[in-house]
Amino acid sequence: MKNIVLLGSTGSIGTNTLDIVAKFPEQFRVVGLTAGTNDEKLEEQLRVFKPTAVALSDEAAAAKLRARCKGASVQILSGVEGVAQVARLPEADLVISAIVGGAGLVPTLAAIRARKNVALANKEPMVMAGKLMQEEARRHGVRIFPVDSEHSAIFQSMEGHRREDIRRLILTASGGPLWELTREQMQHVKPEQALRHPNWKMGAKITIDSATLMNKGLEVVEARWLFDIPPSQIEVLIHRESIVHSLVEYRDGSVIAQLGLPDMRTPISYAMNYPARMPLEPPPLDLAGIGKLTFFRPDHDRFPCLGFGYEALLTGGTMPATLNAANEIAVAAYLNHGIGFLRIGEVIQATMEAHSPRDVTSLEDALEADRWARTKAETLVRQCLS
Ligand SMILES: NC(=O)c1ccc[n+]([C@@H]2O[C@H](COP(=O)([O-])OP(=O)(O)OC[C@H]3O[C@@H](n4cnc5c(N)ncnc54)[C@H](OP(=O)(O)O)[C@@H]3O)[C@@H](O)[C@H]2O)c1
Repeated sequence: MKNIVLLGSTGSIGTNTLDIVAKFPEQFRVVGLTAGTNDEKLEEQLRVFKPTAVALSDEAAAAKLRARCKGASVQILSGVEGVAQVARLPEADLVISAIVGGAGLVPTLAAIRARKNVALANKEPMVMAGKLMQEEARRHGVRIFPVDSEHSAIFQSMEGHRREDIRRLILTASGGPLWELTREQMQHVKPEQALRHPNWKMGAKITIDSATLMNKGLEVVEARWLFDIPPSQIEVLIHRESIVHSLVEYRDGSVIAQLGLPDMRTPISYAMNYPARMPLEPPPLDLAGIGKLTFFRPDHDRFPCLGFGYEALLTGGTMPATLNAANEIAVAAYLNHGIGFLRIGEVIQATMEAHSPRDVTSLEDALEADRWARTKAETLVRQCLS
C-alpha cells in the first residue's frame, strides 16, 4: 500500500489520478489532497477518499470548507504554507504534483525537501528552477518521476540504456487546435476555438499553451532538467495523431519510442507505480485502423513561443522563470480579459527582452524573478487593452 498526497486534486490530472486510486484501492491510500479555490469539489473528494489533511490555497474557500466540515476528522489547512504542509505529510510515500503553474513550485520543493518521491505533472516549477529542484532531489535522496506524456515516453525509452549513448531526445507535439491556421487567421481566434484540443482533454492553461506551442517550449526546458540533456540534443517534431509520445535516438542509430492512445492515466499510473505497470486495460492500440502516422517540422514563424523556450534555456538563470510567469499572465489575460491570441507571444517576448537574468541558486531567486516578470507582463497586458 502506497500513501499518496495529491497536489491539484480538483484538476484534470488530479481527477485522472483519483480515477486510478478508485480502481486500485488495495494499492493506494490518499492521505492528502489540495486545490486552489474549488472547495466544493475538494469536499466531494475528501468524503470519498478520507485523507488525513487537505488544503486550499485560497483562504476564503478554506473557511467555507471548514464551516461545512465541522466535526469531521480531516485537518483543513489553507494558504501557500497549508498546501506545502500537506506536501510534507509524514505518512506520505509519494507526492503527485499536479497544480497548474508556478504556484506548484513551493509545495513541490517542500515535498522534495521532506524526502518524498515526486510524480511530476506540474512542469512549470521545473521551468522556473529545474537545476535547483534536481540538486535538492539528489541531496535528499528522492526521485522525480515524469508524468507529462512526452517525458514519461522518454523516461520509458531510456530504461536500460546508458545516458552517454543518447544522441537526441525527440519530443512530439500534436500542434494543437490551430496548427492549420495562418498568423492572420490566428489574430481573430477566440478562447472557445483555442480551447478545443483535437486529442487531449486538459485544463484551460495547458490547452492554450498547446495552441501557442508554448507548452512544447516549456517541455524542452523540463526535458533538459529531468534528463540532464543539453538543449542542442533536444528536438521537437509535430505529430498530429498523438500516438508516438516521444522518442530517444541512440548513437548506433536505434530510435526507441513509446506509443499508446492519448490517455493521461497511462503516464500517471507509470509514475505512481514505477516500475510496475498497472492493468488499466484501455482499448488496444489499433495501428492498422489508424493507418498512418505523420510527422512535420515545427513552424517557428507561425509559432514563435516554441523558440522562446529554447532561447530562455540558452540564456539560463532566471530567464526561464521569467518566460513562464509572462506566459501565465498573458494566457490568463487572453482567457479572461480578451487580449488577442497573438498578443500572448508578444507579451512573453517583450517581458524576456526587458529582463536582466541572474543565477538561480535559491528558491527566493526563482520567486523574485517570477514576481518581477508578472508585474512587467501585467503592465504590457494593460497597454494591449488600452
Ligand atoms: N491535463 C493534462 O492532461 C496534462 C498533461 C501533462 C501535463 N500537465 C500539467 O499538469 C499540471 C496540471 O494541469 P491540469 O490540466 O490538471 O490543470 P487544471 O485542470 O487547471 O488543474 C489545476 C489544479 O491546480 C489547482 N490550483 C490552481 N491554482 C492553484 C494555486 N494557486 N495553488 C494551489 N492549487 C492551485 C486547481 O485547483 P482549483 O480547481 O481549486 O482551481 C486544480 O486542482 C500543469 O502544470 C500542466 O501543464 C497536464
